[in-house]
Amino acid sequence: MLAFLSFAITLLPLAASFMHPGLLVSDSDITRAQGKIKASQDPWTTSWDTLTSLSFSDASYTPSPVSVIYRSAWYDNAENAELLWHDVAAAFNLALRWKISRNTSFADTASNILYSWATTLTSIGGGDDKYLTAGLQGYELANAAELLRDYEPFATNVLPAVVKMANNIFISMHYRWLNHEEPSEHIILHFFANWELCNVASAMAMGVLTDNQTVWNFAVNYFKTGDGTGAINNAITNIVQEPGRGALLGQGQESGRDQGHSALDIQLLGVIGQQAWNQGEDLFAYNDSRILRGTEYFARYNLGNDVPFVPYTNGLVSFTEISSASRGAIRPTWELLYNHYVTKKRIDAPWTTLFLNKSLEYYGGAEGGSGSWGEGAGHYDGSDLQICFARGKSHVNHLYYIYFGS
Ligand SMILES: *[C@@H]1O[C@H](CO)[C@@H](O)[C@H](O)[C@H]1NC(C)=O
Ligand SMILES: *[C@@H]1O[C@H](CO)[C@@H](O)[C@H](O)[C@H]1NC(C)=O
Ligand SMILES: *[C@@H]1O[C@H](CO)[C@@H](O)[C@H](O)[C@H]1NC(C)=O
Ligand SMILES: *[C@@H]1O[C@H](CO)[C@@H](O)[C@H](O)[C@H]1NC(C)=O
Repeated sequence: MLAFLSFAITLLPLAASFMHPGLLVSDSDITRAQGKIKASQDPWTTSWDTLTSLSFSDASYTPSPVSVIYRSAWYDNAENAELLWHDVAAAFNLALRWKISRNTSFADTASNILYSWATTLTSIGGGDDKYLTAGLQGYELANAAELLRDYEPFATNVLPAVVKMANNIFISMHYRWLNHEEPSEHIILHFFANWELCNVASAMAMGVLTDNQTVWNFAVNYFKTGDGTGAINNAITNIVQEPGRGALLGQGQESGRDQGHSALDIQLLGVIGQQAWNQGEDLFAYNDSRILRGTEYFARYNLGNDVPFVPYTNGLVSFTEISSASRGAIRPTWELLYNHYVTKKRIDAPWTTLFLNKSLEYYGGAEGGSGSWGEGAGHYDGSDLQICFARGKSHVNHLYYIYFGS
């Protein structure tokens, strides 16, 4: 009977084969974090104390759902997207707090936040930047829901509504955007990489959340071979050689624009890599670790060193040199990247290593997540809270990665 069962299982289609929770945070990450916190080890304890001190992690947090979200006043006719990015940050933090503490008060509050949005939101409105909201807040929202899915009251009472919202609002927008169906996308490379990378990240996350292999495959295939800037070979446009050392570096699609958006691209590549990794797909390694090439290029330049620059044009803008605008930009992601490439894979990544040091100095010992290090889109888009990805002797040490960026 047992032999028959395992035979039958191997014949099942792949459709239901996702790991859960299987986005930025896995159950083994939670178990590890619990142990470190219980043993009062740092930096886990510092990150945990930060997490639990935030109003975004409080069981009394109340959501502010609206039926239509607009990202920016100058672009759209209204601006209320911070209601969503705050609530999504809170949902993620609270879900994480529940997972680690096992106190269901936090799961109930997180569930309630997601339920309120799933039953109130009817569309993401405004101009093209609605796709930023769909992508950036989309993957964050999916990460929050994914953490809650083994909380029975959530699974029974809330998950179906969240899945419906994912299908009706988010996933269809990711398809439309990445298939370049908007008139503004008639030049395929028109939109800077962060606009597409966040939609790739969210399509992946929504695919796992909704258990839909078609959506997952769409996102992963786009990342590998898509024709827009969210495909890795277009997000990291050129492989160049580091002066002196001769190591390979990857010039980013937004390098000639500014470093703040380039930093967001690096964050989003980290999200994509980590989400895929937790599903057994190694996008971190794809095309000779092209994500790492990009990370090393960014880190070297933003630590004050020179990098080669290949002239770039997408048919609309042209850059002949790297931009020094917002040089030195820091966003929380370096624990994740360092952890994957250096701690786990033992790959030499000197600039990423140095940049992690800079980031840790900036954040005071542990990279902060959404709600812990400032207000405004830049502190929420792509800023999933992060507790301790790096350091520690083995494997992935990340505990929470609250990411909210544009
Ligand atoms: C769970 O968290 C709630 C909200 O912070 C708190 O009031 C309650 O005492 C906690 N329960 C336990 C068993 O720690
Ligand atoms: C999976 O996603 C695709 C693309 O959005 C959709 O056509 C299909 O209906 C979805 N499948 C299920 C079971 O929801
Ligand atoms: C890897 O990148 C190079 C350009 O640097 C490109 O020619 C090649 O097609 C890429 N391979 C894959 C598998 O994406
Ligand atoms: C950063 O590097 C310096 C020099 O090696 C070291 O003294 C410092 O402790 C490091 N900071 C962190 C936060 O690791």
